[in-house]
Amino acid sequence: MQQNFKRTIWFNEEGTLQVLDQRYLPHQTRIHSLLHSQEVVTAIKDMIVRGAPLIGATAAYGIWLACKEATNDANPNHYFEQQMNALAQSRPTAVNLFWAIERVRKALSDIPSWEKRIEIALQTANEIVEEDVEICRKIGAFGLPIIEKIYQQKQKTVNVLTHCNAGRLGCIEWGTATSPLYQAHDKGIPVHVWVDETRPRNQGFNLTAWELEQYGIPYTVITDNTGGHLMQHQMVDMVIVGTDRTTRKGDVANKIGTYLKALAAKDNQVPFYVALPSTTIDWTIADGLKEIPIEERNEEEVKWIQGSHAGEIVSVLLTPANAKAANYGFDVTPARLITGLITERGICEANEAGLLRLFPERV
Ligand code: MRU
Repeated sequence: MQQNFKRTIWFNEEGTLQVLDQRYLPHQTRIHSLLHSQEVVTAIKDMIVRGAPLIGATAAYGIWLACKEATNDANPNHYFEQQMNALAQSRPTAVNLFWAIERVRKALSDIPSWEKRIEIALQTANEIVEEDVEICRKIGAFGLPIIEKIYQQKQKTVNVLTHCNAGRLGCIEWGTATSPLYQAHDKGIPVHVWVDETRPRNQGFNLTAWELEQYGIPYTVITDNTGGHLMQHQMVDMVIVGTDRTTRKGDVANKIGTYLKALAAKDNQVPFYVALPSTTIDWTIADGLKEIPIEERNEEEVKWIQGSHAGEIVSVLLTPANAKAANYGFDVTPARLITGLITERGICEANEAGLLRLFPERV
């Protein structure tokens, strides 16, 4: 990745919070400033930033901005709560959002002075960012031996399929699903990635492809329907995806289409791994299908597609103008289809016992 964009969220020299506007990648690299908590809400809602860990970190900075704004409001407490609610309602599925909000809220709970609250909110947001970098690095270190083993066995390029973008663009650095790939590549293991397009927002061919290209990892973009065929013909050695929310029993909500890849992987004995920071585990729920709220987005995202034409970013209508479209953002992959969960504490089976072995403090 270009040096300027080593991270996905940063402060510029003037102290302004900035992010990469992910809506314009890979065609344009636009930087977007976040000056007000309401702009943070919009950035999350409109997917200027996206990906569970980055959503959480951005929301934490949103609370810092809300603290600053509260000092100029006639009723600071009311204003603050209103902005916290707006942040919490920005997207429903990725649990990192609620986790980050709760973490900052807790850090502020016994602090009456707004000056001090501003300081603590910023400190906590910075901590969340630094911790995510380290967590993702460790996920890569634990995932690397899986790729190494496949390489040792076949002595040829390891073909990995991924869905959506669970890369550095969805986090701060490294990414979750991409971290083992980056670390394998750094070690000289030849890796090739099948990148699902990931309709309708196309995070695969817009974002994952861009990221892998920046890192120098060979990849091929494929339509969302292709993975099953590749697996039937032994062209995929492993699947690795991210997650927006994982239940304590190991069910995984991730970008719509993940479940179908898991089914195809199971049918073809292809290992299917999910890479996740523990911040993505929702310990309060067990059954992903019943308990994880699935985001439904605007139907226009399905009906229209955005791309580059003659140097301009343009949108074109794909369907009859009056077509009805359904736009479910995520689906749930049941734990039974998952070979293993790769976390910052190691790899475990996708079930309650496996997760509790790594996170005994949650018993
Ligand atoms: O709708 P998005 O782009 O926010 O969805 C992102 C995903 O589904 C990712 O796989 C997940 O958040 C993990 S990001 C490390």
